[in-house]
Amino acid sequence: VSQLNSLDTFTEEEQMLRESVARFAQEVIAPKVREMDENEHMDPTIIQALFEQGLMGIETSADHGGAESSFTSAIIAIEELAKVDPSVSVMCDVHNTLVNTVLRTYGTKEQQDKWLPLLAESKLGSFCLSEAASGSDAFALQTRAKKDGDDWVLNGTKMWITNSYEADIFLIFANVDPSKGYKGITCFIATKDMGIQIAKKEQKLGIRASSTCTLNFDDLRIPAENIIGGEGKGYKIAIEILNEGRIGIAAQMLGLAQGAFEKAVPYTLQRTQFGQPVGTFQGLAFQQARAAVEIEAARLLTYNAARRKEEGMPFTKEAAMAKLYASEVAQRVSGAAIEWAGGVGFTRETGIEKYWRDSKIGAIYEGTSNIQLQTIAKYLQKQYS
Ligand code: CAA
Ligand code: FAD
Repeated sequence: VSQLNSLDTFTEEEQMLRESVARFAQEVIAPKVREMDENEHMDPTIIQALFEQGLMGIETSADHGGAESSFTSAIIAIEELAKVDPSVSVMCDVHNTLVNTVLRTYGTKEQQDKWLPLLAESKLGSFCLSEAASGSDAFALQTRAKKDGDDWVLNGTKMWITNSYEADIFLIFANVDPSKGYKGITCFIATKDMGIQIAKKEQKLGIRASSTCTLNFDDLRIPAENIIGGEGKGYKIAIEILNEGRIGIAAQMLGLAQGAFEKAVPYTLQRTQFGQPVGTFQGLAFQQARAAVEIEAARLLTYNAARRKEEGMPFTKEAAMAKLYASEVAQRVSGAAIEWAGGVGFTRETGIEKYWRDSKIGAIYEGTSNIQLQTIAKYLQKQYS
């Protein structure tokens, strides 16, 4: 567990979870990180191990096979996994903070009884909102759903869908009545065997073990009982859940920054040049001190947003601030960490360069940095006018 965890407001249960996820990440994930990155492949034994560790139903009730823990616990797990591998972290993040949370928040009792145990025990989930022509402008999505008897028939193409190569369960946002604009967007739950086709798997700069695919729905038939939250409620479900999910991405970026820091700093205290450890030259030491401050600030923003959400306080602005800032810190710290380690940092052997490649995504998914700024700006304008 990190030397930098100065926030001491965690419960004993949360602290124990942090320690057990950190141990799990070191023992089970760390040996596979480089191979998975180079082969752009998620090892299926890691997915299985996440289920076995109870990390795929963190907030899900015990009745539904989950760990019945707090939102902050989910954030802690995402952070600890990201210290070791941001790809595994985002897989767990999407599954918990997006997919499980939609069902826990908006599912009927029947839907929760049916889907939550599967999602807690063995079936990976994905969240299908974005399309080629609708990323930031997510509500302009073109996937359509038409009623046919007791079913809905979906046609369209989703792009950039995390986890989708390995997933069995898909939350899909489609418009049932485009004449109503975004108020026609509806959330459906589907399984792969209903006929979801993977059209393309992306090759990426970073988080290369995390799958990102284009999915085709070609007359995908979904029973009417698989609508979550009611017709036309999908846009609100998507954005309300993303408001929370953004705290998860902040945690991923926080863990990433710390993982890079903890790899590079000990090296600089052991590597000598000009007769002294390079990390004791003021030029490096002050950079490291500043990075520690930035990581601490990202931590406080992230856990403040998490606690506000948990306490039922408004948290959208704080979540946007946390995601924006933590993703900037992740890029800055992981980039600097490469330089602190010199030539060694530039090789793939130490894994420091991978943190930097992985950090770029933080400013893009679950709303780009400009979308976070826009969200914060809207709140400021309301507050000050
Ligand atoms: N919270 C709650 N409601 C919000 C909201 C927010 N942050 N932002 C907008 N809304 C609501 C508005 O209140 C309005 O609803 P009503 O009509 O019921 O009042 C409705 O949304 C439309 O509002 P706007 O016209 O202001 O919004 P817009 O159409 O300009 O943009 C948006 C809205 C699409 C949500 C945009 O702000 C946004 O967040 N874009 C980014 C999309 C995104 O995050 N995608 C992530 C995909 S999943 C993913 O990326 C997972 C992963 O990688 C791991
Ligand atoms: P665009 O929206 O085209 O943005 C391009 C640029 O324009 C950005 O810099 C943006 O900030 C800027 N811009 C756009 N609008 C404005 C504005 N109004 N003001 C100022 N600047 C603006 N989506 C899912 O639904 N599910 C997933 O699981 C998922 N996983 C992903 C995983 C990866 C690896 C990637 C790359 C993406 C994933 N996404 C997923 C999609 C992701 O959420 C979108 O890529 C993101 O929302 C940005 O959309 P875009 O790529 O179309 O960029």
